[in-house]
Amino acid sequence: MVKLHAMAVTIGVVGLGKLGLPVAAALALRGYQVIGYDRDDARMRTAALSRYERGPDGEGTLVDLVDDTVPLRFAPLPELLSAADCVFVVVETPHRPMYEGITPLPDSRADFDYTALRRAVSDVAAHAPGPIEIGVMSTVLPGTIRAQILPVATAHPILYCPQFVGMGRVAQDLSRPEFTMIGAPATYRHGTVSTVLASLADAPLFEVSYETAELAKVVYNTFVSAKVTVANLVQWMAHETGADAGDVLRIIRSGDQRLTSAAYLSPGMGDGGPCHPRDNIALSWLFRAHGGEADLFTGVLRTRQAYVEWLARRFAEYAGPLPMTVLGTAFKPGTDLQTGSSSALMVTMLHFAGATAEVVATPADLIGRPPAAAARAYFIGCPEPEFTGYPFAAGSVVVDPWHVVTDRPGVTVHRIGGQPSPAGDG
Ligand SMILES: NC(=O)c1ccc[n+]([C@@H]2O[C@H](COP(=O)([O-])OP(=O)(O)OC[C@H]3O[C@@H](n4cnc5c(N)ncnc54)[C@H](O)[C@@H]3O)[C@@H](O)[C@H]2O)c1
Repeated sequence: MVKLHAMAVTIGVVGLGKLGLPVAAALALRGYQVIGYDRDDARMRTAALSRYERGPDGEGTLVDLVDDTVPLRFAPLPELLSAADCVFVVVETPHRPMYEGITPLPDSRADFDYTALRRAVSDVAAHAPGPIEIGVMSTVLPGTIRAQILPVATAHPILYCPQFVGMGRVAQDLSRPEFTMIGAPATYRHGTVSTVLASLADAPLFEVSYETAELAKVVYNTFVSAKVTVANLVQWMAHETGADAGDVLRIIRSGDQRLTSAAYLSPGMGDGGPCHPRDNIALSWLFRAHGGEADLFTGVLRTRQAYVEWLARRFAEYAGPLPMTVLGTAFKPGTDLQTGSSSALMVTMLHFAGATAEVVATPADLIGRPPAAAARAYFIGCPEPEFTGYPFAAGSVVVDPWHVVTDRPGVTVHRIGGQPSPAGDG
């Protein structure tokens, strides 16, 4: 593998959204000269970085680490292309809101919308002063690069290099990936894109076909969703049968020879975020389009949804006459993103069932708001410390699928599939 001296390489990043801007910042922190461009001027500044994005070692916020000494700047596309040695395209490939995972799964299915990606790649192709490697980081379904992107890339080499990162930990996951994967034509020989990505970490490098990389990216998310769904089912069944979900999952996590890692096997709710539900929904569309019938993708999604519906019923049942509050609708702690959130799906389900629940979306919504003095029923939708440590008034009922709310006098805690609090029946 050719060694690159980071300072000598200039990387263009086109599309500075939730993924692109932290990627640009992380590459600059590694010493690469990075130039960012977004069609939305508001994204062309480091201050647009989410304060939830942590630094490469998981400490501090990325926005605070990217000071004036870090080689990240912003420029119009032609200027970016006149200086860049390669370009990463990180624009949106949206799914319609009905396929996001916060409303009931419809019967219909659809592919992602590739309009923005085709436009961004053709803009890069048109403005590049000479041949330049274009690394597509946006998520696409198998077959898309060959059918939809190569035709607009003209003579420029296209590499498919999706990232396996979590929101809030983009810089960390880029520096410590499980593997580096690049979809490339058979003729590709370690160009700038693969050398830059491989330089980020000492991880296995897979240079594979476009279709292999495309399928590996979305199936990774299916695997995570399936694991989370198994954990959710354990909770559901434990709650119904008297088993202890925490103990069952501790046992399952110990099966690390055949059942693989402990990640995702904890009490909680279904997976969410800007990738998981929507990638599975899109993958089920592709599977159906190829005549597939026994569809694990839909099976995982239906079970994810059924668990949330069941949780909503338990919440209403445990609340009884008490007014209901959902604490947290972000898709995981440490972010304010509601995209694809199981908790947001539960609020939708409650709404469909005619129940009225107050929603406290993020801990920021608690600022300046005195704790409720009267008893209420609470559902922990996202286990932020501000929610799990909330000063629940005496007589309150708390439904906790995460098993994180501790016992406290006068409050009944229902840990779904877990041990009941002394005052509750769990
Ligand atoms: N957010 C994640 O956790 C994550 C993780 C892995 C993969 N992805 C994938 O990465 C891609 C981007 O996701 P995101 O969450 O950052 O999307 P986003 O909507 O937050 O950001 C996309 C950005 O691209 C810009 N853009 C669109 N067209 C452009 C063009 N022609 N030129 C310049 N800028 C343009 C938009 O203005 C926007 O700022 C998607 O395909 C997504 O599926 C996202």
